[in-house]
Amino acid sequence: MPAFRPPSDWETVYAAAEGYHFGEEPSQIARTALSFYRLFEGPRDGLALDLGSGEGRDTAFLAGAGLKVAARDVSPTGLAKTRMLLARTGVSEDRVDLEQADIRDFAYPAETYDLALAANVYQFLTLEEAPLHIARLQSATKLGGICAVGVFSPAMAGWGAQIGDHFSATADELLAYFSPRSGWLPLDRTEYWTYRPVNEMMVSFAYVVARKELR
Ligand SMILES: C[S@@+](CC[C@H](N)C(=O)[O-])C[C@H]1O[C@@H](n2cnc3c(N)ncnc32)[C@H](O)[C@@H]1O
Repeated sequence: MPAFRPPSDWETVYAAAEGYHFGEEPSQIARTALSFYRLFEGPRDGLALDLGSGEGRDTAFLAGAGLKVAARDVSPTGLAKTRMLLARTGVSEDRVDLEQADIRDFAYPAETYDLALAANVYQFLTLEEAPLHIARLQSATKLGGICAVGVFSPAMAGWGAQIGDHFSATADELLAYFSPRSGWLPLDRTEYWTYRPVNEMMVSFAYVVARKELR
């Protein structure tokens, strides 16, 4: 079997998928971010950001939990599936500001989001862009808010994936962006390997969830 290369055309992936390519259940990073959000008593109807929202599993999860969610993705099929998931799970579209957009054009309004999530999207930016977007996501997180970033772990290459052109980070490398000296309280640092049947291989990811304590 040829080595796995991450897709560059997610529109085709989502359009070809039977049902939801990533499933309908929320990602591990979104579940972790929301559990800390609640632990720190984030506002019940706070504002969340889901960048690279895909088919909407995390958008639906966060909106279903009572947050207002701004979700952005380039894939129109991903957005259409998000709308279907919201309808099916009984979450009002009024809770979601859903737009087709390239995140490179996203304004990252300062100190705006109570929960700011970028789940496995920054690896699709260039090696130069990705760290800048992590910093912009951090600045868009409100003081006291939760910021969560997940990307490929370089360990995936060990399983034969061709991710050389993609931004990747170990959990410790990601954690270095969230140092207490720069005002962050790290809450979760995870790196995991999981078998993905659609790709017939192990894939590996790293993520960090942190609370913004200082500007
Ligand atoms: C690995 S998927 C993750 C989707 C979602 N976060 C999840 O976990 O289900 C990456 C997503 O990022 C989106 N994406 C990639 N580059 C993007 C860009 N420059 N602007 C907006 N979305 C982008 C893709 O369309 C895709 O939906």
